[in-house]
Amino acid sequence: LTNGVSETKTAEPAVESAAEPTTSAEEGMFGVELVSPAIAASLPPTYTIRALRKSDYSIGFLDVLRVLTTVGDITEEEWNGRYEWMTTQGKGGYYLLVVEDQGRIVATGALLVERKFIHHLGLVGHIEDIAVAKDQQGKKLGLKLIQALDFIAENVGCYKCILDCSEANEGFYVKCGYKRAGLEMAHYY
Ligand code: ACO
Repeated sequence: LTNGVSETKTAEPAVESAAEPTTSAEEGMFGVELVSPAIAASLPPTYTIRALRKSDYSIGFLDVLRVLTTVGDITEEEWNGRYEWMTTQGKGGYYLLVVEDQGRIVATGALLVERKFIHHLGLVGHIEDIAVAKDQQGKKLGLKLIQALDFIAENVGCYKCILDCSEANEGFYVKCGYKRAGLEMAHYY
């Protein structure tokens, strides 16, 4: 739902123009003010960090996630449906960041914001689905993604962020400032 459609210039009625919400400088799933300027400035020249866009379907977003786990064959229609849900019914809950290098997604990470009753309506951030393309690992992109997700969490009002990871990745998250707390349990269906 795009509200303020610009209505300057032409006297044409804004009837058909809003048929497809694909704008030239395409908007991402959240505002640029939530992208850490310090992290953006710290990336190598051809790299950018930004909110996920619907068009990232065609520039390798899902391939980056495949370094993390199975993704399956997701059609563009299915992708669009999930993206739209996240940005409408899930609005304010999903913050997916991507790092793009020369027209290709090379890293991604997600922050989910949980709204609680406890702690006086506290907000808890959940860091999820961190993935850096194989040929891009070891360049601090993972670290910068986590710092950029922390920036979002702090700025939307989370009092903490938590995540689950394997023992093999513990050292990475320690480098990002996280520490072991509790124990993960799962019940699969
Ligand atoms: N164990 C210990 N230290 C590590 C590890 C690790 N597995 N991975 C990186 N580090 C260290 C690096 O050596 C570096 O240390 P330094 O600052 O002393 O040089 C620091 O952590 C930062 O490393 P980055 O270069 O930012 O790491 P990278 O960009 O390769 O990203 C990541 C790390 C995300 C784990 C990446 O390797 C990856 O995508 N792996 C496959 C998918 C995966 O396992 N994702 C995490 C799942 S858990 C979750 O999503 C909540």
